[in-house]
Amino acid sequence: MNYLKLLALGVIVLIAAMAANWAVDLAYQVHALLVMLIAAWVFIRVLRGIDPLNIPQSTPSGYNDAVVRVGVVATVFWGLAGLLVGTFIAFQLAFPELNFDWGQPFTNFGRLRPLHTSAVIFAFGGNALICTSFYVVQRTSGVRLFGEQLSWFVFWGYQIFIVLAATGYLLGATQSKEYAEPEWYVDIWLTLVWVSYLIVFLGTIFKRREKHIYVANWFYLSFIVTVAMLHVVNNISIPVSIWGSKSVQLFSGVQDAMTQWWYGHNAVGFFLTSGFLGMMYYFVPKQAKRPIYSYKLSIVHFWALTFLYIWAGPHHLHYTALPDWASTLGMVFSVILWMPSWGGMINGVMTLQGAWDKLRTDPILRMFVLSLGFYGMSTFEGPVMSIRAINSLSHYTDWTIGHVHSGALGWNGMITFAAIYFLTPRLWGREKMHSTAAINWHFWLATIGIVLYAASMWVTGIMEGLMWREVNELGFLVNSFADTVEAKFPMYVVRGTGGVLYLSGAVIMAWNVWRTIYEPKPSKRNARMQHQEN
Ligand code: HEM
Ligand code: HEM
Repeated sequence: MNYLKLLALGVIVLIAAMAANWAVDLAYQVHALLVMLIAAWVFIRVLRGIDPLNIPQSTPSGYNDAVVRVGVVATVFWGLAGLLVGTFIAFQLAFPELNFDWGQPFTNFGRLRPLHTSAVIFAFGGNALICTSFYVVQRTSGVRLFGEQLSWFVFWGYQIFIVLAATGYLLGATQSKEYAEPEWYVDIWLTLVWVSYLIVFLGTIFKRREKHIYVANWFYLSFIVTVAMLHVVNNISIPVSIWGSKSVQLFSGVQDAMTQWWYGHNAVGFFLTSGFLGMMYYFVPKQAKRPIYSYKLSIVHFWALTFLYIWAGPHHLHYTALPDWASTLGMVFSVILWMPSWGGMINGVMTLQGAWDKLRTDPILRMFVLSLGFYGMSTFEGPVMSIRAINSLSHYTDWTIGHVHSGALGWNGMITFAAIYFLTPRLWGREKMHSTAAINWHFWLATIGIVLYAASMWVTGIMEGLMWREVNELGFLVNSFADTVEAKFPMYVVRGTGGVLYLSGAVIMAWNVWRTIYEPKPSKRNARMQHQEN
């Protein structure tokens, strides 16, 4: 019997019960009850001798693939949830009635928007990063994952973080920092989970049998370390009461804004870029069955990207109270960032040298290449938008939203889908995905969806930017804000339609993954076919 574990769980149940009793707001109370129930459930499992984290491992590969498998399933699940909410809020912007009077305040755009952003970035993207990094670091180090139980704690701890964050938004708990909305106690929990993640990853690298640390691991590691640093600094706050969710930020005014966008931009740089580049450096050469085009370039790419990204945050704060020098610094570093970004894209795409013909027959490889195309596009567009004069037009408009989604749907989404198609048959011991035709369908639905999304946002973005600055011969503004909202309506419907297509592709993927996992074993299939013939 693990008395220490029982004691710790018992204390958690007790404190959570007290917190639920003395809670000063609804979100906090619901969270305390949730934590209490989860801890009580684990307590009972431990008491009955079933350690919930110690799931039996029986993989012929010798690697800890069980945790990667659940990670793949979680990625698909959260992907569907996040895209569904995204599509819904896209239609809310076109048809405000969809905010539903009867559902207030839970169903309004303001609460559902962070639900979408966190679900797609942290739940979908985060699970994809965690499970692929666990897969890649084992293969490239030639050893089993370090910390059997700890890796399960990372997985389940991260899911608890997602549930606490998501329910918190719906119940109105937010610290109003973009991409860092969860309140103080959820942040502390995430810090624990993240440090455990670092230990598992680094531990595996330390006990590796390969002398060399493959470049994909460098990218994953920079993502894990930097996100830890960003998360801690950006979330420094003082709770108003330990029995409530509200907290006060330590920084204020322009310092707070700068910290927020130092965090925000590097969340893009290290979460949505470095981590996903880790995926790219492993899966693209594997799928193309070719070595990476230039290993030297990958090293230059890594150091240049890591050094430059961290300075670019101020481009989110042009024409604000931020000093001009800081804004110029951000702009210059952003423009320089274009080069290493394209170096990485070229490295990925050129890996296909000598294997271009595979693009005709292999939809998974096509997805990888398309994702690199969108990576290249958004890392060209970003530096352009960071130029102050251009930002004065693009800022506050849908152009930013278009930029975000060409990166998010095209780069992050596509590379994740391709990695899921790569992993599923290998992890469940199947020869290939259940249906290649379905992968093709997914590819085209997603591609058309992205084009509709990005193109409509470029049009509305530039249109509203121009309408806002239009003045008549006397120098008065020509358009009211409501005029721009009205003018954007058709494009909002087009964007929503793009979302439906993108989501449909993901539904097809979920079906394909499900069929691949539950495909009858060959012997059973033969028996059934024989039965049918008789
Ligand atoms: C079906 C696909 C998707 C649809 C229809 C969709 C729709 C939306 C909508 C309507 C917004 C709010 C825009 C606004 O406030 O004006 C939004 C914001 C956002 N979405 Fe998505 N989304 C989708 C997929 C994704 C994915 C896969 C990601 C990331 C991996 C993502 C990341 C974001 C981010 C970061 C924002 C905030 C943008 C900003 O504030 O500049 N979305 N999305
Ligand atoms: C060289 C690379 C990049 C640069 C220099 C860059 C630059 C920029 C700029 C200037 C903005 C607009 C800031 C504003 O006016 O408020 C922006 C917004 C954004 N970019 Fe990028 N970008 C780059 C790549 C990417 C990539 C690959 C993604 C990934 C998906 C991405 C995601 C975002 C997001 C989420 C925002 C919206 C932030 C917000 O206001 O909520 N960017 N970026």
